[in-house]
Amino acid sequence: MLRTSLRSLAKPASRVSLRYYSSYPLSTTVTLPNGKSYEQPTGLFINNEFVPSKQHKTFEVINPATEEEICHVYEARKEDVDDAVDAAEKAFKGSWSTADPAIRGKALWNLAELLEAHKDTLAAIESLDNGKALQLAHGDVALVINYIRSCAGWADKLTGQYIDTGDTHHTYTKREPIGVCGQIIPWNFPLLMWSWKVGPALAAGNTVVLKTAESTPLSALYASQLVKEAGIPAGVVNIVSGFGKITGDAIASHPKIKKLAFTGSTATGRHIMKVAADSNLKKVTLELGGKSANIVFDDADVKTAISALVAGIFYNSGEVCSAGSRVFVQEGIYEEILKEFKAAAETLKVGDPFDLSTFQGAQTSQMQLNKILGYVDIAHQEGGRLITGGERLGNKGFFVKPTIFADVTPDMRAYKEEIFGPFAVITPFKTADEVIELANDSEYGLAAGVHTKSIDTATYVSNKLEAGSVWINTYNDFHQMVPFGGYKQSGIGREMGAQALDNYTQWKAVRIGLQKPT
Ligand code: NAI
Ligand code: MG
Repeated sequence: MLRTSLRSLAKPASRVSLRYYSSYPLSTTVTLPNGKSYEQPTGLFINNEFVPSKQHKTFEVINPATEEEICHVYEARKEDVDDAVDAAEKAFKGSWSTADPAIRGKALWNLAELLEAHKDTLAAIESLDNGKALQLAHGDVALVINYIRSCAGWADKLTGQYIDTGDTHHTYTKREPIGVCGQIIPWNFPLLMWSWKVGPALAAGNTVVLKTAESTPLSALYASQLVKEAGIPAGVVNIVSGFGKITGDAIASHPKIKKLAFTGSTATGRHIMKVAADSNLKKVTLELGGKSANIVFDDADVKTAISALVAGIFYNSGEVCSAGSRVFVQEGIYEEILKEFKAAAETLKVGDPFDLSTFQGAQTSQMQLNKILGYVDIAHQEGGRLITGGERLGNKGFFVKPTIFADVTPDMRAYKEEIFGPFAVITPFKTADEVIELANDSEYGLAAGVHTKSIDTATYVSNKLEAGSVWINTYNDFHQMVPFGGYKQSGIGREMGAQALDNYTQWKAVRIGLQKPT
């Protein structure tokens, strides 16, 4: 067994190297593991152009399956963020926010078409940079395309209301965009998070400055070319690659940014909310962490429940904010589920992300690998029973065996804390009321799963769960029209569906005083 010291949990991200270049190219040819090559933009995307950063500093982008360098990209600093914000502000004040919204709809539709035309390259980039299995990356890109298309449809449907306040006034409301939006996204679904942020912001007439995660900057830069080709005006979308404490902070604290959308850890979310408040009280929406309950009742269909448990914790290598990481199994079916879940975990193909039969690729970074292995140690020390996995796979690339610990109790850290890897903890329960209490005893409230054939059980339990999404007899099952977001410390606001547009619009009420004509 690997013994990772607990201190490794606090270690900084992998071994990213920084370099100053007087002329690092603004694009570079990348050869994919399948032998195909493509041209990868490396500059910052500001005003519809790729540009070097002012300080000419770049950072290394790593393929987590091989630990080898893919390329460098330019790193934005405060002065580059200022440029991006100025471009976004100019674009906002231009016709983007005031022209017929159908024009924005058409541009977003064009973008969806282009994303579709480039879907194989986008999926390959996502797999290469993040480490996720290529077959799953294709699923991400399909949802990206559907979502951008859905946003195209929203653009001209953000209607206001006429309000009858009597014949002394003519009163109506209208929905207006907010302005320049700062957006900070994580590394687990780089392109999907880009689409969840950029799509609704643009549909509503805002402009954006988006920071990708430092470990996965590539797909958003590639998609930036398509933004330009789609006819989206210069300055509407600006992408700044860089690190949280520098580039992210410059966005969160920027006085000209009116709205901040963040996806990532609860700790960082809490921090940037303070920074947003202290700077200019920009409006904040957050999509944060989770420790979601996936609950199996005695009467569940075992096959369906097992595939939902697998989708819950092993999908995307467990790097999913809504991961069903706390599994609760009713005592009558406990040993059977353990046996079947173990068998399912052990048959999952883990390894080369580009092998289309692979289900679980590499974890995204050395830091995540260390974190997961650290929790394996913790779970052992706390008395968890290891059912399967619990160790690194191979010694090159950040691969972890699908891991299950049983007999885990609510006082254990592995039960309470977000691990963000293929690591399930299982706890038995007796009654519906008991499991509701267990499930809700968490600072998080992102998602939950309920597996039962009883409509009574499903309805009773889902009504009482403190979670933004409840999946019944399925899990991690997303659709572009279904809102997603957290209760409690899992977030503020909703992504996708009609609700996402609420994040990017503000209501204006207009009252016109009327005189009776003489
Ligand atoms: P993080 O929340 O620090 O990073 C997410 C994004 O925030 C990145 O783009 C990062 O550069 C940016 N960021 C970091 N510090 C910032 C700051 N001070 N100001 C502005 N932006 C900042 O998460 P990290 O460190 O990558 O991962 C640590 C843990 O967070 C993971 O193990 C996982 O448990 C959790 N996490 C949860 C995610 C979710 O979707 N719920 C996504 C990513 C991480
Ligand atoms: Mg990477």
